[in-house]
Amino acid sequence: MKTAYLKFDSTKKLSKINKEIYGHFSEHLGRCIYNGIYVGKDSEIPNTNGIRNDVVEALKEIKTPVLRWPGGCFADEYHWLDGVGKERKSILNTNWGGVVEDNSFGTDEFFNLCEMLDCKPYLAGNLGSGTVRELASWLEYITHWGDSPMGLMRKENGREKPWRIDYLGIGNENWGCGGNMRPEYYADEYRKFAQFAKNYNNQDMVKVACGPNADDYYWTETIMKNLNTWHTGAISLHYYTVPTGDWSHKGAALSFDDKEYYQTISSTLFMDEIITKHSAIMDKYDKDKKIGLIVDEWGCWYDVEEGTNPGFLYQQNTMRDAIVAGINLNIFNSHSDRVIMANLAQVMNVLQSVLLSDGESLVKTPTWYVFKMFLRHHEANLIRSSLAAPELDKFDKTVPMLSYSVSEKDSKVFLTVTNCSLDEDCELLIDSETFGISSASSEIICTDIHAFNDFDGSEPVTIKENSSYEIINGKLKAVIPAHSVVSFEIA
Ligand code: AHR
Repeated sequence: MKTAYLKFDSTKKLSKINKEIYGHFSEHLGRCIYNGIYVGKDSEIPNTNGIRNDVVEALKEIKTPVLRWPGGCFADEYHWLDGVGKERKSILNTNWGGVVEDNSFGTDEFFNLCEMLDCKPYLAGNLGSGTVRELASWLEYITHWGDSPMGLMRKENGREKPWRIDYLGIGNENWGCGGNMRPEYYADEYRKFAQFAKNYNNQDMVKVACGPNADDYYWTETIMKNLNTWHTGAISLHYYTVPTGDWSHKGAALSFDDKEYYQTISSTLFMDEIITKHSAIMDKYDKDKKIGLIVDEWGCWYDVEEGTNPGFLYQQNTMRDAIVAGINLNIFNSHSDRVIMANLAQVMNVLQSVLLSDGESLVKTPTWYVFKMFLRHHEANLIRSSLAAPELDKFDKTVPMLSYSVSEKDSKVFLTVTNCSLDEDCELLIDSETFGISSASSEIICTDIHAFNDFDGSEPVTIKENSSYEIINGKLKAVIPAHSVVSFEIA
């Protein structure tokens, strides 16, 4: 068995891991909102004001800290006024399936959902096809406490108090579906929209500029150079794991061979490289790290499941997705000095979801279990650590066998590790530089790499207690099984 060595110093706190790194994304896409989170008041599925009760429970269990809405590409064609009040105009969803939506889920329903989840709202504004006035009046509707025209409209629609809004995205993917802009042009548009985007609710609201697609470093450089820092709290980054790297044949969610598996891992690990490089550019213009990086779309993107609407991006979720989630979340934790939020795409029934539904049945995916396992990282301090681990040469890829992150909270150290090898366990020797380890507990997600949780109630991918470790002379010796995600709480 190969051996890896991990050392940490819990007195050396590096950065706080914002709980928002464990955020989610809900777009008007396929069955994410309609027939997903939102089934309508008259549905036979138990709901509160149209929102599925079991979904709320499941998202509360993983302490969903922030929810992004209404898109995605949908955001730059969304007109909020059509989605408030009693009479609502319908909208053609040109990006996703060409379906007509009745706008029964709109601003008030979204903010109500966030209150039910006790999470922060992250709104994506329409810069691509909307107007400055439209975005300004949306904020007035949401946040004005007095008798302003929009404040009054909200009250007439049944909400007396203003809503709380924590993050405002000014456009989405404006280099592509959000207007096909050059970064120079977008930066100027951003400055204008941001100037008039006022929050009247007397609380902090982070304005988020559209950042790069994957490794588009020119975009980041240009945006950072041209930003009005006074108006900008963060820039976004979108990067998806596409197993084959070919968008026309991405690979299937359920049937993949060993080669495609290691391609998936290698493609996921690219996240670390691009965050490192974008952060270095940001450092040049913002050495005090006042502007955050928000990875507000990440996850596996496979070919849609056969027989489903190609525009709905529905895919199953296996143990492979759990490993991808573990790797990405470890990467975000390790970059928490710059990465202030991340949002899995998407929360339900779309891409690498934490929840899947079929009628009344609801499945918690392997990815949901990773979010559950990693809960102790929320608001913990990333601590100084180093890992010496073997590398794997697989097909034409070289990947590190283990990925990890380690944090401290309430005098306890929390370590999460993934072993991405398909066939080799790894011995891990864990050493604290400042205290002798005297107690530990551990959890594990590990099963067949193709296993998934199904609507018939079978749940092969869950969290189990792990006992494959021992404490010897103040050090912890563990076995990290092939294709597993493992956590340790250490004191
Ligand atoms: O998450 C699906 C789509 O991916 C989003 O709408 C868009 O922003 C991205 O290209």
